[in-house]
Formats: sequence, C-alpha cells, structure tokens
Amino acid sequence: MDRALGLVREVPDFPEPGVLFRDLSPVLADAAGFRAVTDAFAAALPSGAGAVDTVVAIEARGFLFGAALATAAGLGLVAVRKPGKLPAVADRVTYDLEYGSATLELPADTLAPGSRVVIVDDVLATGGTVEAAAGLVERAGATTAVVAVVVELTALGGRSRLPGGADFVSLLSV
Ligand code: PRP
Ligand code: HPA
Repeated sequence: MDRALGLVREVPDFPEPGVLFRDLSPVLADAAGFRAVTDAFAAALPSGAGAVDTVVAIEARGFLFGAALATAAGLGLVAVRKPGKLPAVADRVTYDLEYGSATLELPADTLAPGSRVVIVDDVLATGGTVEAAAGLVERAGATTAVVAVVVELTALGGRSRLPGGADFVSLLSV
C-alpha cells in the first residue's frame, strides 16, 4: 500500500495558482497499485449486520475506484452523475462551491430504499461533493454506511461534512 500511495503525484498550481493538486493517474496506471487500493477499500467494508449492499460512485474519478470496488466486493454500483448526462433522473442536488455551484444527479431505478451504501470518490477536499451525494442517498431512503476516498486533504476540513454515523475510510491523509 505504501508503494501505491507513493505513486500519487503532487502538481503545484493546478488547476489554479496556489493549489497543490494530488493526481491519482499514476496509481490507476499501475496494476499493483490500483489493485492495492481496491483491496484496501474492500477490506474496510463492514460485514454481518452492518454490511453494505451498494457502491455509490461519484463522477468522474470516483467511478474508477468505485467500479473496481463494486466488482471486487460483489456489489452493484450506482453512478451519481454531473447534470445533463442521465436520461432518467430520480433526484438531483445543487450545492455551493467556493465560486458558483455544482449539481449531482441520481439515476432513476437504481438505489432501493433501505439500501446500505458505500460512497466512493478519489479525493475528499471541502467535503461538499460527498455531502451532496449523501443527501441523495438519504432522500432515496437509503443509508450511507461508509464513505471511502483514496486521499483526504485534511486542511480543507471535509471530514466535518461527512454524514453522521458513517464510517470514514481514507488511505492517505495529507
Ligand atoms: C473532485 C474530486 C471530488 C471533489 C472533491 O472532483 O474528484 O469529487 O472534487 O472536492 P470537495 O470535497 O471539495 O467537494 P471534480 O469536480 O474535480 O470532478 P472530476 O472527478 O470529474 O474531475
Ligand atoms: N486532487 C484531486 N482532486 C481534487 C483535489 C486534488 O488535490 N482537490 C480538489 N479536488
């Protein structure tokens, strides 16, 4: 796992001056690294009464890790998308960004009430994206049992916006 996380590339001044961007492309491109991340997510999922039954993956980079986890753990996947991509939308949520706003949409006929989900994304930054996705999960009558990210950017405080009661898995805190 240390080797896999050592592949995370730090890119200064992307996407704008002053931001140190953590790029996970080299982790994905490395077979053993991608496998290590996927296995770590799968190993962190609860079993027994608290088990999860669905992966909720967030566009776009969350799809990559979420799909791998779903396959490894034998779970179905719900792809929460940016607006205008889905032909049938069950629900949508708009949330504030530092500048402007963003919207996420839940595909129709995917997330059953009573489901217990793991929300997967690549990075937790301010936490706004995960908070929005968890709102969609809750409004669908489902429960966010776990939030799993590869990297947590601790300085941005996203952890405080995680859904109450959910386990939090992050493989690298920087
Ligand atoms: C990035 C990242 C997370 C989100 C984290 O997505 O993949 O989804 O930002 O930020 P937050 O915790 O402050 O909400 P981005 O919108 O850049 O989309 P992409 O995956 O489509 O590149
Ligand atoms: N890396 C990837 N995604 C991000 C980052 C980052 O450093 N910050 C906000 N979203």
